Amino acid sequence: MKILIATQKPFSIDAVYGIQDILEGCGHEVALLEKYPAQEDLVAAVADVDALIVRSDKVTAEVIAAAPKLKIVVRAGAGYDNVDLAAASARGIVVMNTPGQNANAVAELAIALMIFMFRGQFTPATGCEAEGKTIGIQAFGNVGRLVGKKAEALGMKVKAIDPFIPADKIREAGAEPAATLEELYSTSNVISIHIPATPQTIGSIGYDLVSKMPKGGLLINTARKEVIDEAGLAKALEERPDLKYVTDVMPDNYEALKEQFGLRVFATPKKMGAQTAEANLNAGLAAARQIANYFATGDTKFQVNK
Ligand code: 3PG
Repeated sequence: MKILIATQKPFSIDAVYGIQDILEGCGHEVALLEKYPAQEDLVAAVADVDALIVRSDKVTAEVIAAAPKLKIVVRAGAGYDNVDLAAASARGIVVMNTPGQNANAVAELAIALMIFMFRGQFTPATGCEAEGKTIGIQAFGNVGRLVGKKAEALGMKVKAIDPFIPADKIREAGAEPAATLEELYSTSNVISIHIPATPQTIGSIGYDLVSKMPKGGLLINTARKEVIDEAGLAKALEERPDLKYVTDVMPDNYEALKEQFGLRVFATPKKMGAQTAEANLNAGLAAARQIANYFATGDTKFQVNK
């Protein structure tokens, strides 16, 4: 089988070699498309591939239509909103993710961004400390739980909410469950967002929630830009000069936000949450193993379009 690694934001070289080792060791052929300048390059590259490994690369209906032999797509990472599941399912193409494999990298970045903002983006302005503050974690999955553990180690009180995890399980995992999102936002000095982008969550965090945060509140988004209602966020920041926003997923209105709010907002230039050597290896090798297993035994354990 021919497997294409298509990564606009490349894996580390060790991860690429590791993926090649696993797949070529099983008799497959591996091709590499990195840092491609245009979506048409991806469309052209899939013409003869049986399997695809991607990161945040856009596997659109057009890509799927251009890949008549495609049988499986593995998103090496957690969020698979970049894959057109309906188009894949219509063709019987299996889509998988690699849950948890890059979670620690994203959780460490969330904590780093929090301290960066607490310390005025490392300007000499008087900042504040994490110790004693409350962090509210919106979605308590692989990343959220790790953020909670790390925040606890910094002396923070951890609260969490997750529509799919009952309160007793959140408590067992060491956080205090919040009954509602409104409660989480109104009682947390810091909110860390870990929800996926779905029709239900897109644009769901805006003025109403953000403006409920206590004085000095900091909103951290290492999830997806689409979950934020950008106009609502800007309105809350305008009304409340004490609030701050930091994100690993650059908002569409970033230039305007920067101009209006200066050091109260910050976005990384390119999504970097999962961009560590360890996360590249974990997610890349998991993707390779999942494809090898799928072709060898039909294993669909991590399929997301069942
Ligand atoms: C994920 O969903 O796993 C993260 O957003 C990482 O995305 P990336 O592989 O594009 O860095």
